[in-house]
Amino acid sequence: MIRVGQGWDCHRIVVGRPLILGGVTVPCEFGLEGHSDADVLSHAITDAIIGAIAAGDIGMHFPDTDPRWKGAGSLQFLRHAVALATEAGYKISNVDSTVILERPKLKDFRLPIRESLAATMGLSVDQVSVKFKTAEKVGPVGEGRSAESQAIVCLVRS
Ligand code: C5P
Ligand code: MG
Repeated sequence: MIRVGQGWDCHRIVVGRPLILGGVTVPCEFGLEGHSDADVLSHAITDAIIGAIAAGDIGMHFPDTDPRWKGAGSLQFLRHAVALATEAGYKISNVDSTVILERPKLKDFRLPIRESLAATMGLSVDQVSVKFKTAEKVGPVGEGRSAESQAIVCLVRS
């Protein structure tokens, strides 16, 4: 049996915070605002996994009002989502994702980000796809005010 899940996330761009994507810090003069480390990519993938097993959403498992998650590394959310899927009797077949950010260019960070995500989820790198897009200078992402991420996962019965 196969299940699919979809996730989306958005964070505001701010100066004075690191830009963390899939657990990798990308050198940049701005970062993303959030209660946790604001890793928009990890949040989208976490929600996709939680969605695939119909277990609510990321905010239900890790409320942003909980002081435990203030400044938390988001890879732990992802690890927890994988554990929930494992408990439900599923393993991840593959993950595909997109980060939408006007700049900086992210393609040189694709492999480290895929490696970081794969290691966190207990997958091989070829099971984890990460794509990058600009928003063509249109809207809040295009104007450099926010970053978005989308993810889809396929789970198979283990
Ligand atoms: O958004 P656009 O279609 O112009 O992106 C073209 C390519 O630029 C993408 O396929 C991706 O490889 C790269 N890109 C990037 N970092 C971004 C946005 C896009 O490396 N922040
Ligand atoms: Mg988020």
